[in-house]
Amino acid sequence: MSKYITTPIYYVNGEAHIGHAYTTFIADTMTRYEKLKGEDAYFLTGTDEHGQKIEESAAKNGKPTQEFANEISASFKNLWDEFEISYDKFIRTTDEDHKKGVQKAFEVMYAKGDIYKDFYEGHYCVSCETFFPETQLVDGEFCPDCGRSTSIVKEESYFFKLSKYEPALLKYYTDNPDFILPRSRANEVINFVKGGLRDLSVTRTSFSWGVKMPESMNDDKHVMYVWLDALMNYITALGYGKDDANMRYWPASTQFVGKDILRFHAIYWPAFLMSLDLPLPEHIGAHGWWTRDGEKMSKSKGNVISPKQVADAYGVENLRYFMLREVPFGQDGDFSQRAFIDRINSELSNDLGNLLNRIIGMSGKYSDFEIDSVDVLKYHTKEIEAMNIVLDSLDSFMKNMQTHRYLEELWKLFAIGNKAIEEHAPWVKMKEDRKDEALATVALVANILAKAAVMLHPVMPRTTNTIADALHFKIDHDSYKDLILEKNLLELFNIKVVPPLFPRVEEPLMPEAPKAMPDDKPNDQMKEDLKAKREDDNLIEIGQFFETSLKVGIVVEAEEVPKSKKLLKLQVDIGEDKPRQVIAGIKEFYSAESLLNTQVCVVANLKPAKLMGMLSEGMLLAAKDEDGLCLIRPEKPKKAGTPIG
Ligand code: MSP
Repeated sequence: MSKYITTPIYYVNGEAHIGHAYTTFIADTMTRYEKLKGEDAYFLTGTDEHGQKIEESAAKNGKPTQEFANEISASFKNLWDEFEISYDKFIRTTDEDHKKGVQKAFEVMYAKGDIYKDFYEGHYCVSCETFFPETQLVDGEFCPDCGRSTSIVKEESYFFKLSKYEPALLKYYTDNPDFILPRSRANEVINFVKGGLRDLSVTRTSFSWGVKMPESMNDDKHVMYVWLDALMNYITALGYGKDDANMRYWPASTQFVGKDILRFHAIYWPAFLMSLDLPLPEHIGAHGWWTRDGEKMSKSKGNVISPKQVADAYGVENLRYFMLREVPFGQDGDFSQRAFIDRINSELSNDLGNLLNRIIGMSGKYSDFEIDSVDVLKYHTKEIEAMNIVLDSLDSFMKNMQTHRYLEELWKLFAIGNKAIEEHAPWVKMKEDRKDEALATVALVANILAKAAVMLHPVMPRTTNTIADALHFKIDHDSYKDLILEKNLLELFNIKVVPPLFPRVEEPLMPEAPKAMPDDKPNDQMKEDLKAKREDDNLIEIGQFFETSLKVGIVVEAEEVPKSKKLLKLQVDIGEDKPRQVIAGIKEFYSAESLLNTQVCVVANLKPAKLMGMLSEGMLLAAKDEDGLCLIRPEKPKKAGTPIG
């Protein structure tokens, strides 16, 4: 059976960061693992290049959109090439074949009766390229996902009958409990679907940087919604809509995504596939979010780490090892140089690197680098048994994407090897003239290391090839079959001296991340970073709390906003030169008069936003439940501008 593994396609509005690298590493590892096992595996990655967000980023950079997309797309591709990522195809949504494939899919869904034309009026978030119902907006205006201001967009649109697929999706989740992995993430998806699915607007007329409508629709005002366009990449890459050249790889075995885009992959994508009469992927694997030294990464804090910078300092293979070892798949992970260096020194240098050094040293000293395995079983059945138990356990961890457990177990092999050396002390045996025994121990350890290298190969391909070279064998499917499945020993080792693989790291090799100051102003990037938090039940650092500047305010003027059911226009004194104008969605609960001269709590460092054309320079804290909304106020009067926190 073939295996098809994908990463999300990365937006071309910024360079790759460590989160992108993680998804790519894990997908690369999984593909290499399947290939090692002899599977016909195909690995897809690429870039997502359409939509208003990209158009705006290009404009900000003063470049034509296509040129801008070309540059950033190339920077991703070059980075993956430099990292020796073993992708079989790098797709770009601006590829002609992809565009044709999307058009074809649109036609098929239309012919099926799943797409119809209507009008859409709603709150649209440009950054998330998503419409949100009013009930989901924060404070009547802000995007529930990224916190940015939404705008009201009314446009003619084609709709996909997502609602029609609600029962089929729910049934699919029940029948396939491993569709969403880790399983703990499935509930949020199921609840979302149970909450009711609205038909999805799948075209836009408000901008033009997208895949055009199929000619057969005769409607060139519209371009495709970027998520429809983007999700289709997983099949257009296989030739869908062209020649189906590689469609035999469909359905995908695992599609890796970050938890923030799980909903698109676990709801929209399967519904589109059902409409296209295509089978659904076996697994959607949702991974967590990476922080740096416990803090969200953001441009303004200057603490974003580029994978290239880390790889240049520590080596890309060490980074792969660290990221895959450090976090349980699905959970958030933290990148800190301390933790990284500790793992390099203790696990890579001490446990693994030393074992190779000892084999090189002992084989050189005792038998001119030539050792054979003839006596291994005679003296070391106990170790061989222990080794086989570990080797047999590994596959299930990788199948469940539990790379941290896979590596943890794999490391037990080095413990078995190092312990055998201590216990059997070949140097003593040599002195006692028991050379056979001494060499059997060295050969045992060389076999353990060889097998470990085979299994570590998907995670550290280059390093393990060096180990194999030193031990005089090759890592490929044949050696996997021979050494792992058939449990054979390597007959002869002709050991080659190689320099130490993992020099110890004494000092951090990169500058430390700047610490965020409590009075750092939140900006778009931070809000974006917080988006992941909101979806998760993560705890935050105290510093993150203080990123929000909260102040006591006094309402000095209040009036209704004409023609608005919800809004009041307030002037709130927060101890500055002049009052702040706050447009608050509280008219249903408070009259303008009743607010005059009362105290309120104000979020003072929100980026100003326009609501119905009026500037709003803050937000009031309030609590809302089924009984209505009430403002949060100081228990005793405080001076305007008193900080809260
Ligand atoms: N273009 C869409 C995906 C379309 S797939 C049909 C997109 N692109 S993205 O560039 O914004 O994000 C790509 C992936 O990177 C997502 O899976 C996202 O979860 C992941 N990450 C972005 N920041 C991350 C961290 N800080 N940590 C871990 N992964 C993160 O979404």
